Amino acid sequence: MKYTTFYFSGTGNTRWAVSELAKFIQQKGHQAELVSIDKGAQLKDEQIRTIVTDSDAIGFANPIYGGDIPPIMRAFLNRVMDLIGPLPSQKNTYVINTYGYANAFGPQETQKLLAGSGLTLTAYVNIQLCNNVTSNKPLDRAKLAKRMERGCHELNHLADCLIAGRKRIKGHGPQLLIGAMIRKKVPEAIAKFYQTLGVDGATCTRCMVCIKNCPTGSIRQQGDQFIFSSGCTACMRCYNFCPTGAITIDGVVANPDKFPRYQGPNS
Ligand SMILES: Cc1cc2nc3c(=O)[nH]c(=O)nc-3n(C[C@H](O)[C@H](O)[C@H](O)COP(=O)(O)O)c2cc1C
Ligand code: SF4
Ligand code: SF4
Repeated sequence: MKYTTFYFSGTGNTRWAVSELAKFIQQKGHQAELVSIDKGAQLKDEQIRTIVTDSDAIGFANPIYGGDIPPIMRAFLNRVMDLIGPLPSQKNTYVINTYGYANAFGPQETQKLLAGSGLTLTAYVNIQLCNNVTSNKPLDRAKLAKRMERGCHELNHLADCLIAGRKRIKGHGPQLLIGAMIRKKVPEAIAKFYQTLGVDGATCTRCMVCIKNCPTGSIRQQGDQFIFSSGCTACMRCYNFCPTGAITIDGVVANPDKFPRYQGPNS
């Protein structure tokens, strides 16, 4: 059997989760493919159609933003729906969400977007790892290690359920209230996030890492200026991965010694 997971990961948590799932599936003697939806991956329409047709089950994995799906994954799911049309028969579909403190509406929203396509949600897990938003708190490595251990257990179990064709929709109920509260406010902040981003000319080395790695192609250089545009999905990748900490938010140059950057669970 072949399991293909389309994923978006701003800073590495979701990539870690899907890689672990792929390892478990392969250890159990099946095929697992991971497909990034970053703009840089340049997925072609035909390629997406073929992946959906050729896979026995399809997964969608992403971080939770404001109790919801990040705009980049929402746009991708809409694209998939437009491309595949109603499938001739039902195909098992799984969703993996990673989050820092409150999960919430990820699976319901995905289910709504998939409605009528034949991609039927049979499994959902959320994996709590850590926040990737700017913070002056050092990363609690011990806590993260425990969460990764729990996450591994959950992903191993998910692999078993997928292979056995068993349903597993788990872990989004109790947090719906918190999700409902943040969900009202965050989408607008995400949509406008690009307006808060900038580059500190004094610390930037013009290495272009931010431009090359932006998953939505929302950063460009114009003369001496860096321009951030509205396709930004607020993933924090540019901020966290700039080698000199030169990306500013609201004009603030956050000193990396005081505001440690987050570069994924294995960094
Ligand atoms: C814009 C934004 C909004 C977020 N909103 C939430 C949230 O509502 N609940 C939560 O638990 N974590 C939230 N987070 C944290 C991420 O979901 C979490 O760190 C995730 O595991 C990051 O995955 P990634 O490393 O694959 O990008 C948010 C992160 C960002 C960048
Ligand atoms: S990654 Fe940082 S140092 Fe490199 S070009 Fe972007 S802002 Fe400048
Ligand atoms: S501009 Fe920065 S925060 Fe926005 S999508 Fe690109 S890398 Fe992510």
